[in-house]
Amino acid sequence: MNRLVSIITTILMTGVSAQAIAGDPAAGQVKAQACVACHGADGNSANSGFPSLAGQVPGYIAGQLAAFKSGKRANAIMMGLAQPLNAEDMADLDAWYSSQTIAPRSISEDQLALASEGESLYRGGSAELAIPACMACHGPAGHGMPSNYPRVAGQWPEYLESQLLAFKSGERAGKIMGPIAHRLSAQQINALSVYMSALQ
Ligand code: HEC
Ligand code: HEC
Repeated sequence: MNRLVSIITTILMTGVSAQAIAGDPAAGQVKAQACVACHGADGNSANSGFPSLAGQVPGYIAGQLAAFKSGKRANAIMMGLAQPLNAEDMADLDAWYSSQTIAPRSISEDQLALASEGESLYRGGSAELAIPACMACHGPAGHGMPSNYPRVAGQWPEYLESQLLAFKSGERAGKIMGPIAHRLSAQQINALSVYMSALQ
């Protein structure tokens, strides 16, 4: 537990420096023209292969863009797109997307049982698997916490699942999420993704 607290403290402190530049949402909207095709005009993506960025916690998008630029987060498409961005561009894009509203999702009738399995892990974690409750960091309603804990509510379930699988395999590096995802089964990841996407 002490180790977890020290990890969280380190992350919170990193978050403070990442937020040092105040972004301008209007400038961000103009710069986001380069992103519209995949992430949607207002950050609500129309394709499950591309995450929605609308309503993301302030600071998270700038942090991820910096991680794509440095190669800390590896993704062929985003690494290329992040190269020309400087810290001010990242802050402006962050300010634009975090000021937008994400469209809510609902769970289909045939996925209710799956979602309820996800709900129990999300809200209570699992002592047996040594998995903390997801809501401790992503919030009881999935809204995340500035600046490093992303919103999950309203996100494409397919995207959430792909990221948890990438954390599990180590393809996406994550000091916190790596060990957590590693202990989740593919079935639990699926259940969590369906549940989180429909949080409001
Ligand atoms: C050609 C499609 C495409 C374009 C254009 C694009 N992106 Fe992306 N973006 C992606 C994909 C695919 C991912 C998921 C990457 C992964 O799986 O790691 C992503 C992920 C992201 C993430 C991480 C989101 C999260 O929840 O962790 C951010 C932030 C982001 N993009 C910002 C931008 C910005 C800002 C622009 C414009 C400068 C942009 N993207 C343009 C395809 C695109
Ligand atoms: C101790 C805090 C903490 C806990 C507990 C936690 N997370 Fe996370 N989660 C994070 C952080 C920090 C990130 C951002 C990772 C990064 O920057 O690389 C993240 C990222 C994610 C992402 C990627 C979102 C995106 O937009 O790319 C998903 C999905 C996710 N977590 C799901 C979960 C689930 C499911 C659980 C519970 C089983 C959980 N998290 C528990 C801190 C936490």
